[in-house]
Amino acid sequence: MTQTPSRYHEVYARWRSDPQGFWREAAREIDWSRPADAVFDPDQGIFGRWFTGATCNACYNAIDRHVESGRGGQAALIYDSPVTGSKRTYTYAALLDEIATLAAVLQDLGVGKGDRVILYMPMIPEAVIGMLACARIGAVHSVVFGGFAATELAIRLEDATPKVVLSASCGIETTRVIPYKPLLEEAIALSRHKPSACLIVQRPERAADLVAGRDHDWRETTARARAAGKRAACVPVAATDPLYILYTSGTTGRPKGVVRDTGGYLVALKWSMSNLYGVAPGEVFWCASDVGWVVGHSYIVYGPLLHGCTTILYEGKPVGTPDAGAFWRVVAEHKAVVLFTAPTAFRAIKKEDPDATHVKDYDLADFRALFLAGERADPDTVQWAERILGVPIVDHWWQTETGWPIAGNPLGLGALPIKYGSPTVPMPGYDVQVLDEGGRPLPPDTMGSIAIKLPLPPGCLPTLWHADDRFREAYLTTYPGFYNTSDAGFIDGDGYLYIMGRTDDIINVAGHRLSTGGMEEVLASHAAIAECAVIGVKDSLKGEIPCGFVVLKSGIGRAPTEIEAELVQLVRDKIGPVAAFKLAITVGRLPKTRSGKILRGTMKKIADGDSWAMPATIDDPAVLDEIGAALKGRGLAG
Ligand code: COA
Ligand code: AMP
Repeated sequence: MTQTPSRYHEVYARWRSDPQGFWREAAREIDWSRPADAVFDPDQGIFGRWFTGATCNACYNAIDRHVESGRGGQAALIYDSPVTGSKRTYTYAALLDEIATLAAVLQDLGVGKGDRVILYMPMIPEAVIGMLACARIGAVHSVVFGGFAATELAIRLEDATPKVVLSASCGIETTRVIPYKPLLEEAIALSRHKPSACLIVQRPERAADLVAGRDHDWRETTARARAAGKRAACVPVAATDPLYILYTSGTTGRPKGVVRDTGGYLVALKWSMSNLYGVAPGEVFWCASDVGWVVGHSYIVYGPLLHGCTTILYEGKPVGTPDAGAFWRVVAEHKAVVLFTAPTAFRAIKKEDPDATHVKDYDLADFRALFLAGERADPDTVQWAERILGVPIVDHWWQTETGWPIAGNPLGLGALPIKYGSPTVPMPGYDVQVLDEGGRPLPPDTMGSIAIKLPLPPGCLPTLWHADDRFREAYLTTYPGFYNTSDAGFIDGDGYLYIMGRTDDIINVAGHRLSTGGMEEVLASHAAIAECAVIGVKDSLKGEIPCGFVVLKSGIGRAPTEIEAELVQLVRDKIGPVAAFKLAITVGRLPKTRSGKILRGTMKKIADGDSWAMPATIDDPAVLDEIGAALKGRGLAG
């Protein structure tokens, strides 16, 4: 097979020589109700703002304009739910009707431009309809992942102060029904801010009790609105107005409210669909993530729909719904040309079906590429996927904060040679540099902190919700003039990036981003705990899993195993099952430096079986042997 030379270098150079011209051109793909005064205004916002003066509407660009241009009869959304045994297809015209009707219901509930709406939803079409209905009327949505506990939801309710909450009676985890409504009630009780209304999708698997005067049955309410002919029109918003807030783990238990502005996001996503993912309008794009994560926002909802693609909403898992052939079934049945998921999903499939026996049962003729993100794509998994699928496997790197990939292999511009372990090269808009502790650029192949030279491109966060100072402090202060990604890695002589791990307390568990600091806060709140440290240890399925070391207060007089079980439950109750915190280990003391800093890095190396050196500043080297012995007692430590 002959490979066409990639246009990547030419396109990246074009951006470098004229960033504003580059984005001005990309912006032509979006329908604006008022054009921008400036493509980029360095004097607005914290590091400048994109497309100032322009107005537009995200829902209009994702839905209405496709109906107007003749795509009304094309499938926009395919809901495929092995956990309920149901499938449903919405054309662009049908989706528009659902969104416009729900948007009118939201207006009736008092929601207007700039008001916040929280969604706490499973993977059902109403989640997508809810997000786009907010966008339609200029309201700001904030989706909270269903695997988070009531406390986490309460924190987000307090911070975002939504007028309305959209939710469902339950979610379904493989075969387990998870009632969502009791979690929502607990969160509302915990939060000082109370929404004035909740709209609840009643699912047949488990109905919820509705609170009179506050709760509304989603389907009954929208049916009434439809019968009354109510439909909301698109409300133009400033390109710099927020489209959504998405909370992500920070360095403490307090999540960061990442703000996404409207105009720049639409421009960047649209550019990425054809140039990075290499898909054309009308094709089927499947992102097997969850709408609760940034990947779901950008590539289940906004990206594919902006581009006029068909998107798939999959309520299932890579394994167990019903088997390790689930992904191939969905790709084949709906003729998806691209699948985007996390490496952990492929590790789960590989574990259950190492010889990929299920692949041969399906016709994957239309399938062109697999994209992986959310955690480092380990070369073993990438090579296995390549072998069984015979298509390019593209690792690409991004963060909730950026909203779209920082680095990848741009298939639409012509693929670059793949190097295992590397997400390839920076996308236009991103000037990625590797810096030493003093902020000086490092030579190729040298590990350092990865930073992006300001300004960040369109689509990236302009700030944190109502927290400009926290934004500056968390991202812009360490390396003046740069955005600090908090990822460490290097760039090789060919300009390929390698992302090796975080420099802060964030760990990636099954592609889910979690803060060990947040878990430490929960452990420390237990009455029996004197001190604790949580680290991420290597896991062959989930990449990393959290492991908590605890020192008990003296004279507790209870069995450590009993307290450990309470700690596991406490993290599940306070953060949620998604934390996958199952390992609490009681130790006599924690290893520390002479100045009292806990040596988490060394503990991690011992747990992972990596080589490690005795830290020169350690207070008592014998403690590390004790940690090693405690880990061995649980079958860990190499
Ligand atoms: N609502 C309620 N609970 C949820 C949930 C949700 N939306 N999502 C996950 N959970 C629960 C799980 O049921 C599990 O509970 P358990 O401890 O009682 O078993 C727990 O949270 C941990 O979930 P997870 O880490 O996802 O493990 P898993 O064993 O259920 O599944 C994988 C493992 C690898 C199959 C799964 O993590 C996966 O498909 N990952 C892909 C990740 C992904 O899409 N990331 C998005 C970025 S691209
Ligand atoms: P999230 O905000 O949940 O998308 O998580 C972002 C973090 O996940 C990044 O800062 C990285 O640490 C990690 N990550 C995401 N994609 C990749 C990738 N392709 N390679 C390595 N790490 C990744």
